[in-house]
Amino acid sequence: MFYVSCSMRVVSGIQPSGQIHIGNYLGAIKQWISLQEKNECVFFVADLHSLTVPYEPKELQNKIIEKVIAYIAAGLDPEKSIIFVQSQVKEHTELCWMLNTVCPIGELERMTQFKEKSKKFKNNINAGLFNYPVLMAADILLYKAHAVPVGKDQEQHVELVRSIAKKFNQKFGETFPEPKSMLPKIGAKIMSLADPKKKMSKSDDPKSYISLFDEPEDIQKKIMSSQTDSGKDVIYNITKKPGISNLIVIYGLLADKTTEEIEKQFKGKNYSEFKKSLSKTVIEYLEPFRRKQKELLLRDVYVKEILNKGKLRAENIAQTTIQEARKKMGLE
Ligand code: ADP
Ligand code: TRP
Repeated sequence: MFYVSCSMRVVSGIQPSGQIHIGNYLGAIKQWISLQEKNECVFFVADLHSLTVPYEPKELQNKIIEKVIAYIAAGLDPEKSIIFVQSQVKEHTELCWMLNTVCPIGELERMTQFKEKSKKFKNNINAGLFNYPVLMAADILLYKAHAVPVGKDQEQHVELVRSIAKKFNQKFGETFPEPKSMLPKIGAKIMSLADPKKKMSKSDDPKSYISLFDEPEDIQKKIMSSQTDSGKDVIYNITKKPGISNLIVIYGLLADKTTEEIEKQFKGKNYSEFKKSLSKTVIEYLEPFRRKQKELLLRDVYVKEILNKGKLRAENIAQTTIQEARKKMGLE
């Protein structure tokens, strides 16, 4: 059966821009995979969000399918989780409009991501970029989610979603639970390999991140040339040694080792020896992902079927919520 024991409703998504990297995996997807065992999980590709920054329309469909394949290759199980494409469930945009009318613009102006993206895309500061968190609120509230597993950078957005839910409930009567973001204790903010003061990001130079499907030679090259710090000891110190500390975090999460164990293991050894060992760990960890991805790339019909089923399951929940919200707002 599909829902065995539903303790929580969980919702999350990733935009189809760029390539999914180990930051996305360790911050978000890894949590999704364990959550799907005991919860009612809804995971989607946030294609509507990706329209807010420059993109190539002809490539969008391929990028969306790539992300769905990445979800499954990394361990999402379409029998356990609802997997779909955001724009295929029209209720997301309908609820977004309704929520726009309860969200103060002052709160949107405070959003760090909006400020950063407005700086980065000076010639394209569109209303969608500004309203981005309201669409996120619709994504989450449409499914009456309790938990939103994301990385650190999305915490502020989820906080705003809570505030939107509260305002809606106060104005129109109790409708939405106030969702909480769920961050991993370690790995909520994996840093760039090229600049350990910046977050690893899909929109940066591919040298700065390890994609889930990078070939072993590329993984090795990227790790060996990643920026480290002065000195040579493999010691965790986030302020003095941000580069090596970031690599220790990645190593610990993928090899299931504590920082102390890693420091002990590499005592008296240099950065290069540590990086070689890390490369081996990353390559081995991602090997089944690469294998599964290759297999799924040949199973076009199967992937489309998953998305069709996911859309129907998502719509089923979304339509019930929209009916309720429409009634509460006096639209019916
Ligand atoms: P990116 O910023 O790389 O384009 P997204 O904004 O699409 O990634 O984020 C997808 C998910 O991955 C979100 O839950 C986000 O919080 C998480 N995430 C993104 N970058 C990182 C990172 N460097 N470390 C940990 N989690 C991350
Ligand atoms: N904004 C998120 C990101 O860039 C993606 C996203 C869209 C999302 N809607 C969501 C994440 C709803 C969690 C819940 O990473």
